[in-house]
Amino acid sequence: MHRSPVREWESLLARLHPGEWKPVTSGQSGASVFRSADGSRYAKCVTGEQRVLLEEERDRVDWLSGSGVPGPEVLEWGADADGAYLVTSTVPGVPADSVPAQALWQAWPSISEGVRGLHALPAKECPFNRDLAQMFAIAQDVVARDKVNPEFLPVEQQQTPPVELLARLAGQVERRLVQEAGDTVVCHGDLCLPNIILDPVALNFAGFIDLGRLGRADPYVDIALLLANARGVWDDENQAIAADDAFARAYGTTFDTDRQRFYLHLDPLTWG
Ligand SMILES: Nc1ncnc2c1ncn2[C@@H]1O[C@H](COP(=O)(O)OP(=O)(O)O)[C@@H](O)[C@H]1O
Ligand SMILES: [Mg+2]
Repeated sequence: MHRSPVREWESLLARLHPGEWKPVTSGQSGASVFRSADGSRYAKCVTGEQRVLLEEERDRVDWLSGSGVPGPEVLEWGADADGAYLVTSTVPGVPADSVPAQALWQAWPSISEGVRGLHALPAKECPFNRDLAQMFAIAQDVVARDKVNPEFLPVEQQQTPPVELLARLAGQVERRLVQEAGDTVVCHGDLCLPNIILDPVALNFAGFIDLGRLGRADPYVDIALLLANARGVWDDENQAIAADDAFARAYGTTFDTDRQRFYLHLDPLTWG
């Protein structure tokens, strides 16, 4: 029988901490996320087969918390035959998708700086791999199982069969692998605005959350997703262009827009 996420939570977390947790509805992954009544902790709960993914997230949270880059800390881990839960400390602040364009604009230099700081970590010392070979293999699997969520695709691709979308990317993989080999960084791996926390008073970057996909990868994995996601917030195209330019300056690069588009189009094929 299918067990609902709430049943799952009841079976694991509530049993240990009755009455202490409130559900959060803003997650993207399908995991059940809860906030502690005092706001100091978050708990993420998954069903049995997703336990491995949550374990991977736990190890990444733990690793990043020792790196100097701001993010949560692992407080508790529990698992049984029903599934698993991960309790992390709260990164105090508000998700970057919850503020208006003007506030995001004010926070943008420190967000750019935060991403630069993450990408400046010594990639060789990062034990987690999130490289193109792995991501492309995941995309092949998701497409083969016909599990691509059309809502994740750009509007202009929603009528195109995912097999065709994947084939378009396949032709570039060799070139992208060479680029990646020369420029591997520690990526967040799912760098959308909800996974960036801001200090709502200072309007500064406060930390990264949702670290399940963190690992060594091409920097455009993060850059492509962040800039595309922020495009949904900016007031108009002029502001979007100015934000892209400001990010590129703060990051210290000039954008390779083909490479950016490649990673932007690969990402939606890797969920499912
Ligand atoms: N450690 C944390 N600090 C602050 N906010 C958090 C934390 N963990 C989760 N959240 C909040 O809960 C939401 C969902 O959690 P997240 O880990 O992103 O789940 P999902 O993988 O489902 O996207 C986040 O967008 C954020 O608002
Ligand atoms: Mg998230």
